[in-house]
Amino acid sequence: MNNNLTSSAIAYIMVLFKENSDGHDFDHSMRVYHNAMVIAECEQPCDMEVVALASLLHDVDDHKLFDTIDNFNARSFLKTNNIDKSRADMICQAINEVSFSKNKGKTPSTIEAKIVQDADRLDALGAIGIARTFAYGGKHGRSLDDSMKHFHDKLLLLKDMMNTDTGKRLACERHDFLVLFLNQYKNEVECTNEIQ
Ligand code: NI
Repeated sequence: MNNNLTSSAIAYIMVLFKENSDGHDFDHSMRVYHNAMVIAECEQPCDMEVVALASLLHDVDDHKLFDTIDNFNARSFLKTNNIDKSRADMICQAINEVSFSKNKGKTPSTIEAKIVQDADRLDALGAIGIARTFAYGGKHGRSLDDSMKHFHDKLLLLKDMMNTDTGKRLACERHDFLVLFLNQYKNEVECTNEIQ
């Protein structure tokens, strides 16, 4: 794998996300990249470079942040770094298959896209998942109870949606932590209700 290319991709998203948000998405992309590398090590054979680039670039054309079409930001990076068209297509296809909405809930078609999707979902679980849920809720003016609904509506379902065996194993650990948190939260709320 070309480490220079990975470093360039990290530098590229650092600038891109700095201009477009509060830096949270850079940190998210780095965690997804890290998760993806951990999963990819255990899910051989797979193309590590495609996994690395697709994970680092998976949100650079996210419609909530950028007004681009046909993976414009991802493609500009890949073109500038002399990645040939067929390989760029492969990476962009993986990026597009990671997105639940773009992919209409279908399972990704390649092992590389499956790994990146698992890595992205892992970042919605565990302690990070909890922190992200309340950070997002706070930003959008939601009450704690409204944010709690997100755990039941979405996050608790993720562990059964993982694609790879490694992803499933890692998701189970983080899922158990969510359940622990939810039980503790429920206990504390019930205690409060008792003294009212
Ligand atoms: Ni993401």
